[in-house]
Amino acid sequence: MDKLIIRGNGTLNGEIPISGAKNAALPLMIASLLSAEPLTLENMPRLADVEALKSILSNHGVDYRVMGKKAGDTATTGRRIEFQAAEIVDTHAPYDLVRKMRASFWVIGPLLARAGEARVSLPGGCAIGTRPIDLFIESLQALGAEIEIDAGYVNATAPSGGLKGGHYKFPKVSVGATHVMLMAASLADGTTIIENAAREPEVTDLAECLNAMGAKISGLGTTTLTIEGVTSLHGATHRVLPDRIETGTFAACVAMTGGDVLLKNARANLLQEALDVLAQTGTEIESGNEGIRIRRNGGDILPIDFSTDPFPGFPTDLQAQFMALVTRANGVSHVTETIFENRFMHVQELARLGANISISGQTATVTGVERLSGAPVMATDLRASMSLVIAGLVADGETEVNRVYHLDRGFELLEDKLSAVGADIHRVSTEG
Ligand code: EPZ
Repeated sequence: MDKLIIRGNGTLNGEIPISGAKNAALPLMIASLLSAEPLTLENMPRLADVEALKSILSNHGVDYRVMGKKAGDTATTGRRIEFQAAEIVDTHAPYDLVRKMRASFWVIGPLLARAGEARVSLPGGCAIGTRPIDLFIESLQALGAEIEIDAGYVNATAPSGGLKGGHYKFPKVSVGATHVMLMAASLADGTTIIENAAREPEVTDLAECLNAMGAKISGLGTTTLTIEGVTSLHGATHRVLPDRIETGTFAACVAMTGGDVLLKNARANLLQEALDVLAQTGTEIESGNEGIRIRRNGGDILPIDFSTDPFPGFPTDLQAQFMALVTRANGVSHVTETIFENRFMHVQELARLGANISISGQTATVTGVERLSGAPVMATDLRASMSLVIAGLVADGETEVNRVYHLDRGFELLEDKLSAVGADIHRVSTEG
């Protein structure tokens, strides 16, 4: 198992290229199940989750081909990968595959829409909360699907003649269930209206890709999506949008260490709320055509209060990283998590590095300390792991982050990107 060794060593300066978004890439790959023709995705990040989903999709009949490099491509240029499901060869997604990645449950939508049936294992519990599937079931039932849960599997069947257009108002915003309903409704007979849809940029990215494949979705970027079903979708080429969570994470790194870094290709409108919160810490943020420039030269990190919310609110996937930043603030910050009920697992690990954090219900109170000190810590989930790296960048001595496989799921070339701007970070492979 690999671990990361980090030594706090001053400011970060230079440029970090931002990769294609993991949480857009995954549903886009799944959308390839909807058409017999090839879907080419550009700007694909090199991540363990992308690799895992490739093998899960191949089980259903998706062939993939990594396309050749273009002139000017570098090690961090996203890849172009073509996905094609000429035929759906299996509508069964077994436990062994689905338990590895929750997003693989989302194949239920396209399988049901294109093949009329799906048998998908219930996704496992996850470190950040219970993560139920009631909204997936209700929204697919609104399209006429019959669903039963049996022996750990969700068995879904479309009515004869296929899914029907329907109307569903989500009682709670769900990114994954919105993705699934969008994909399923694209091939349904008639019009579907989704109310209280997730507005996350990754949902809009998926809708844009589906429209490029011939779907008829309107209301993109709003809470009401209208889908006129079509009988088939065709091939398309789509570019994955830049990763707003990677952007916010590196922005928090620079705010923590001080320095001056251009986050290349980043787009401010994908994370405006998080940037506004970051500005309140005393960090300078300048957004331009090339990306977002983050600067902090001397001066204290100012305390902040923020609460996670569905887009356009503050993203839950940046909560841990911003909490790490304010462990060194000059004062008391309050961080409230409203999306997942158990997303404070990083708190006890940050405490090992000397952070002063107490939790009451959904809110963590973070009292800034003058120094953090390096220690061995354990990554608990993908984003929580990054909070430990951020703290390690300014801690005295050596921080050892164990269970780095969490980070490899969602951060492309992490050590390379951080060392290129001056961080002292490297990976060590250990046995076992
Ligand atoms: C997506 O997860 C992301 N994953 C998560 O990122 C992200 O934290 C989350 O959206 C919220 O933004 C991917 O895109 C692959 P939800 P998802 O359904 O779709 C509840 C990361 O680190 N809910 O929007 O699974 C659920 O329990 C990951 O990259 C139900 O109650 O999240 C949660 O409280 C972690 N019933 C809330 O909705 C359901 O049927 C929002 O979850 C479905 C969800």
